[in-house]
Order: sequence, then structure tokens, then C-alpha cells
Amino acid sequence: MQAEFWHNCWQQQRIGFHQSEIHPLLPVLCSQLSWDKSGAIFAPLSGKSLDLWWLSQHGKVIGAELSELACQQFYQQQGQDYMVQSQHKFKRFSHPAVDIWQGDYFALAPEQLGQVGLIYDRAALIALPRQMRIDYVQQLKQLCPGSVCMVLLSLEYPQHELAGPPFSVTEQEVRQLFDFAASIELVAVRNLTGRPFAQRQFNLSQLLEKAFVIYW
Ligand SMILES: C[S@@+](CC[C@H](N)C(=O)[O-])C[C@H]1O[C@@H](n2cnc3c(N)ncnc32)[C@H](O)[C@@H]1O
Repeated sequence: MQAEFWHNCWQQQRIGFHQSEIHPLLPVLCSQLSWDKSGAIFAPLSGKSLDLWWLSQHGKVIGAELSELACQQFYQQQGQDYMVQSQHKFKRFSHPAVDIWQGDYFALAPEQLGQVGLIYDRAALIALPRQMRIDYVQQLKQLCPGSVCMVLLSLEYPQHELAGPPFSVTEQEVRQLFDFAASIELVAVRNLTGRPFAQRQFNLSQLLEKAFVIYW
């Protein structure tokens, strides 16, 4: 998807992907994971997700988000003060618990994140069409070259029944995309058929949300 598409979504508040509560699997998954807590928690394509505030009890969270509006709303909705500094092509939103690099994820450099212990992807990979998904994972690998744990929440449905985003990303594709990983485990499946996905209701014959834990 082009940047303009997402800027329009935020300007018009067409953000049906946004969850009004934290993701139900997040506390369960995190209690079962081990990761290097001295590293940051990185949330690519972070939107204004409440999950970031929840994650911040486990370490410093760093988001990456294209939309300045999303970043402002992220802090303002919690009544949190923040600072903003311009740095090259980015604006850095700073807060003691959560920082966000506002700009293009694909232009981020590893130095902007430092060491990362955990990557949290909810509705990031599935927001992108196929070629961009390949680039997204390549960039993730470059941004997090050390040992890292990743939680990936993906969606699967018959792709011909809906034009994404969100796109369907099968388990097979996840395994191909992360073929460099030391391990990829499918840890949970939620059957969302006939049920809402965040604020959106899709007319799909099957809709599955799959949670993967990936280590590299
Ligand atoms: C489907 S939303 C998911 C947001 C968030 N992860 C959540 O769970 O609510 C995808 C987000 O990615 C952002 N985005 C899309 N392309 C991006 C890019 N190249 N760099 C940074 N953010 C991007 C969009 O603005 C949007 O907020």
C-alpha cells in the first residue's frame, strides 16, 4: 500500500483495524515467552495500538508509524505528555515508556532502534501486499540483526473473497518469509469467522487469526 492510502485512512479516521482494548492473546503469549529484557520491544507499523502501553510494563517500547496523526492520538488518548524532535526523514515522539519513530518503516536504520529483544507484530505484516511483505521481513532482519523473539499475529481467509488490507497471509507463507529463523511455532489459533476483526465485520467463509512465536 502506498503512504497516501494510510494517510487518508488516518485523516478520515477510517481505522477499523484499531482495537479499543488490548489484544486478548497478548498477556497469555507474553507470559509464555522468554526474551532478552535488556533489549527494547519493537512494534513496527504501530498505529495507536493500546498494546504498546501494555507491553511497556515489560520494557521500553519503540513503535514505527507513518502517520503523525496516529502518533499524536496514541499519547493524547492516554493523557500522556510527549516530546517531538525532527531527525532526518523522521519525527521522534518520546515518552519514558513508549517512543515512536514517525516516518517510513522502510527507511529506518538499526541505530534508531538499538538492541531489540522482542518484536510485536499485530496487523503489520497483514497490512501489506505480497511484495511489500517480503521487503518488510528483509527490513526487520536488518533492523534486528541479533537474537530476537517475535510475536506475529496473522490472518488467514480465502483471499479472493476480500481485497485487502488486511491481507490473508497463510502459515506456509509465514514459514517461507521467515525461513532464516531458528524456530517458528504456531502457538494459538482464534476462529473469527462471522465475528468482528477489531472494528470491522467481514463477510468471509472463514477467518482465522494465527499467533506465531519466531526466534532468530
Ligand atoms: C493495519 S494498521 C495496524 C496498526 C497497529 N499495529 C494496530 O494493531 O492497531 C497498519 C499501520 O501501519 C502504518 N503504516 C503503513 N505503512 C507504513 C510504513 N511504510 N511505515 C510506517 N508505518 C506504516 C499505517 O499508517 C497504519 O497505522
